[in-house]
Amino acid sequence: MKRAPGPQRPPGPRGHWLFGNSEEYDRDRNGFLERCHATYGDVFSFDARTVVVSSPDQVHALLARTNGDFLAENSPLADRVDPERMAGDAQLWTATRRAGWQGLHRRVAQAHAARLREIFLDSVGDGEVKVLPAMADFFSRATADFCLGEDAAGVPEALAGSVAAIDPLSRDSLQYPPWWPSRRVRRFARSRKELLALMTAIVRKRREAGESAPGDLLGVLLAPRENELTDLQIERFLRGIMLAALGVPATALTWIVYELTRRPDVVARIEAEAAAAEEIPDLGALPYTEAFVKEVLRLWPPTWLIGRTVRRDTELDGWRLRTGDQVMFSLYRLHRDPRWWSDPDELRPERWLEPHTAPVRHSYLPFGAGPRVCVGTQLGMMQLALTTAWLVRDMDVARPEPGDVPVDFSGLLVPRDLTVRLRRKAPLP
Ligand code: HEM
Repeated sequence: MKRAPGPQRPPGPRGHWLFGNSEEYDRDRNGFLERCHATYGDVFSFDARTVVVSSPDQVHALLARTNGDFLAENSPLADRVDPERMAGDAQLWTATRRAGWQGLHRRVAQAHAARLREIFLDSVGDGEVKVLPAMADFFSRATADFCLGEDAAGVPEALAGSVAAIDPLSRDSLQYPPWWPSRRVRRFARSRKELLALMTAIVRKRREAGESAPGDLLGVLLAPRENELTDLQIERFLRGIMLAALGVPATALTWIVYELTRRPDVVARIEAEAAAAEEIPDLGALPYTEAFVKEVLRLWPPTWLIGRTVRRDTELDGWRLRTGDQVMFSLYRLHRDPRWWSDPDELRPERWLEPHTAPVRHSYLPFGAGPRVCVGTQLGMMQLALTTAWLVRDMDVARPEPGDVPVDFSGLLVPRDLTVRLRRKAPLP
């Protein structure tokens, strides 16, 4: 319902006088958001400082106005909310991101695709496999390769350490300040420092070698340009990219494996497509596989909850917001809302291939939107489609215990403890 601009705060559950709604939310995050949506409508207050929005236009406005009225926070720690500090950080990040974008273009991605197959075959073993850790191992090596090429030694291990340190903090609905005296916070600070130190050493080594090798992202970032990037900018950007390009794609691939084990009809179509394509095909040769990946990202968007901090007093769709408020939305709910999707809970790759049927505007945003849209959209789609084709073509994938898998909404959206049996169809050449 569109409202005239005014001083209204959205309605919402009152919750406990001290703890608000945190306890109920933590018990069942998705269920809580679903119930509030059903009771209060597309915009509701989660607590005194947090608002949840739901419709495609509201969600898109929130994302499109990021870096202006709203700010994206990347750290899992709660620093004092200082919108102007956050805006300064955002400006610096955006300048680097603009330069880095070139490094993520097609040519670098294609050079990487050729190496990806080897990394994939090497990471994914035979036998019973715990899917998420195996895919995380694969993507830590893939992203280190994409960013640093031959200088990637030691980086996958450091990345794995960083992810393990971030994970418990990002699952907690409480955010801790950087000075909080706990092992978790200290571990996070230590792993951050170690990864940045490793980046510093690699950037320095490349600079000293004096050559630019645009076969990887670092080569592109170091190439001469009008506004040269400082080493500190490059190191932070690399760290940001590598962390973003690990857990999220690994989770997406885990959901892909899950759906493959449930849908032999889909497997048969992907198999036929992959058999007719080259070993490292162009995405254009895999339309059904790509549609399947899109559909898995619709049903199971790894980044299922996205939030922003209000930079200055403003309004969104007529509702009043104050500086420092949080605004969030569930991508999972948006992607399964029956108002925008037919058969919303069904995996139907064909919906992406039907002519003349596009999704409702802004109702499909697995990579976000606006100035902070995912920089790895094309690279990520390519990695997921290729690995799906290789998985189906080269391996048999089955689940020892078929059936639905418990879904964990506490951090990224993950299938809890998914295990599969993998068997190579033919020995490696
Ligand atoms: C393949 C699956 C992937 C999915 C589903 C995905 C999803 C997303 C989403 C939803 C966001 C926006 C979050 C927000 O608005 O707060 C995002 C941001 C980001 N993604 Fe991805 N991503 C994927 C792969 C990648 C890859 C391969 C890379 C790097 C090469 C990457 C790098 C980034 C970075 C750096 C950001 C932060 C952008 C910024 O804040 O300016 N992502 N991603």
